[in-house]
Amino acid sequence: MPYDAAVLSNATALKIVIVGHVDHGKSTLVGRLLHETDSLPDGKTQSLREVCERRGMPFEWAFVVDALQAERDQGITIDIAHIPFRSRLRPYVIIDAPGHKEFLKNMITGAASADAAVLVIDAIEGVQEQSRRHGYLLHLLGLRQLAVVVNKMDAVDFSEQRFDEVSGEIRAYLAGIGVTPTQIIPVSARHGDNVVGRSGQMAWYVGPTVIEALDGFAPSIEPTELPLRFPVQDVFKFDHRRIIAGRVESGRLKVGDRLLFSPSGKTARVASIESWNSAVPAVSAAAGQSIGVTLDEQIFIERGQLASLVEAAPIEAELFRARLFWLGRAPLQSGRRYKLKLATAEHIVTVEKVERVIDVADLASVATDWVERNAVAEVVLRARSKVALDTFIDNPRTGRFVLVDNYDIVGGGVISMEGLPDRRCAPAQAAADLTSVAHKVTMGDRWKSNRHRGGILWLTGLSGSGKSTVAMEVERRLFQKGYQVFVLDGDNVRQGLNSDLGFGPEDRAENIRRVGEVAHLFAQAGMIVITAFISPYRADRDRARAIAPELFHEIFVDASVEECQRRDPKGLYAKARQGTIAEFTGLTAPYEPPLTPQLAIDTAALSVEEAVEEVLRYIERDVQRTEPVAAPPVRPDVAL
Ligand code: ADX
Repeated sequence: MPYDAAVLSNATALKIVIVGHVDHGKSTLVGRLLHETDSLPDGKTQSLREVCERRGMPFEWAFVVDALQAERDQGITIDIAHIPFRSRLRPYVIIDAPGHKEFLKNMITGAASADAAVLVIDAIEGVQEQSRRHGYLLHLLGLRQLAVVVNKMDAVDFSEQRFDEVSGEIRAYLAGIGVTPTQIIPVSARHGDNVVGRSGQMAWYVGPTVIEALDGFAPSIEPTELPLRFPVQDVFKFDHRRIIAGRVESGRLKVGDRLLFSPSGKTARVASIESWNSAVPAVSAAAGQSIGVTLDEQIFIERGQLASLVEAAPIEAELFRARLFWLGRAPLQSGRRYKLKLATAEHIVTVEKVERVIDVADLASVATDWVERNAVAEVVLRARSKVALDTFIDNPRTGRFVLVDNYDIVGGGVISMEGLPDRRCAPAQAAADLTSVAHKVTMGDRWKSNRHRGGILWLTGLSGSGKSTVAMEVERRLFQKGYQVFVLDGDNVRQGLNSDLGFGPEDRAENIRRVGEVAHLFAQAGMIVITAFISPYRADRDRARAIAPELFHEIFVDASVEECQRRDPKGLYAKARQGTIAEFTGLTAPYEPPLTPQLAIDTAALSVEEAVEEVLRYIERDVQRTEPVAAPPVRPDVAL
């Protein structure tokens, strides 16, 4: 097969990276492979031999690779970053030159991937620091299929003993970083021993040649063959239907499949598949297609959720490992917070630990717990709530992410889970053993009996903005009017139900999750429940809303940090400024104001009385609409 760009477009080409110390014969091996598989442009070898002869220098196979490289630099032939060749079995592509910054960037961020690797080691020198670094690179790239080539066997008299020594060293090193070589092959790339043809010099070796080892690697898996991953991009409402739109990243789905949405854990069947440009409704869709689906049940779905089949769900974890390439101007630091974008989901993550930092220039480990621009690192990330993800090895589409800081992409990487648990199992298992029990008194019955509707008035705002003051006064006024009403207040609930929680992002998320559930119970009991919690994170409030969106009313109690500091009713801002309270909202912890609250009250401009009046007006106008109290909206998974 001639040197042909067409090979590149062949979907079944196996992508391999060849790594090793520059002097250990990587280029010679590649040159040999290209030559012996007849993959070089016609006349290339001949013309190089002639050049060498004219210059009185011995011909080297590495020159072939150098020559192709030179042509690329002059922009003459196709991109040498991908060198195609073909065995009798299938086409291959050798990817780029590892050690290049761009190569590492593409591989580590998952923009490029390889199916297998070849590590070249010099039989004379054995395992050197450089080989270790290249071995480590394989671990970083998460490659499962690896052949080690012990090269220059001609220079050690094809000694079995030397081969055994070097094999032993490399096996021990690789085992230490969790990599198991599929094959270790004694080779002389210069003379062609055990590259394609079997060597006549090493009768003691009975294993495969390099090309046989490559042919023995499992083929790359097509995205359509992987488990279904359908990240929700948008939910559109058309008349009574809700269409869930997105791109199928991997696998296939068909009408009738039961989809599991992670991390919510809700399931429903695909009722129809709507594709944008076909008149005939589709009955199935596969990786690469952008589609919309409708479901047989109205479950709450939002952008960022990841749909899969129930039997092959993604991992759910707050804590996961990442190998990443850092692009940020400011170094990545342990303890810092970034926005993680994974498929269509966004999560705030904190860098829990920087485990290892690698300098891209020489692949050496750097002993720091921060990561400078253009360095590679292994880190542990923690999200505030569960992230639906896959490891990159299992699914390249949902196993990679980017990190964003202030709207800039500052890093990209791939996920691994070594030593960390998939946290999906426990609740899912528990849920499987639970059955909803139906009430005989409906929420509508309770509303009729109370002569008013129930609902959740979710007050959010800074500490000192006036949430508790407004909430308690609204409660008093409604109670006087005969309403069933109750206030859940942060400072109170945190002394009882939530006394085990602090003020870190995870604890605040849990605080709000519990209060969201409790508020929903109150609302199911027919009451008006007013919650007064800072609830600084939008995502946490959205989750509280998602329990029963129809019952949820978000009220922004708005006052600037300056105003709240001036009021400082509990003296906490002063303490926070002195450094005696950590992570104080508005000063040393973030507050994310609502984007579209149902009501915003500006407590700097209004008196308490006026603010209370506004909330009461809202309740009487919007919560107590005048249409008949019937068929109350309920949480779909709770039978009432
Ligand atoms: S939330 O952020 O998790 O919603 P929540 O409303 O329950 O907070 O509790 C806030 C109350 O806890 C504040 O009104 C204040 O009295 C007290 N508090 C103590 N430490 C902090 C802190 N670091 N940040 C904010 N509030 C704090």
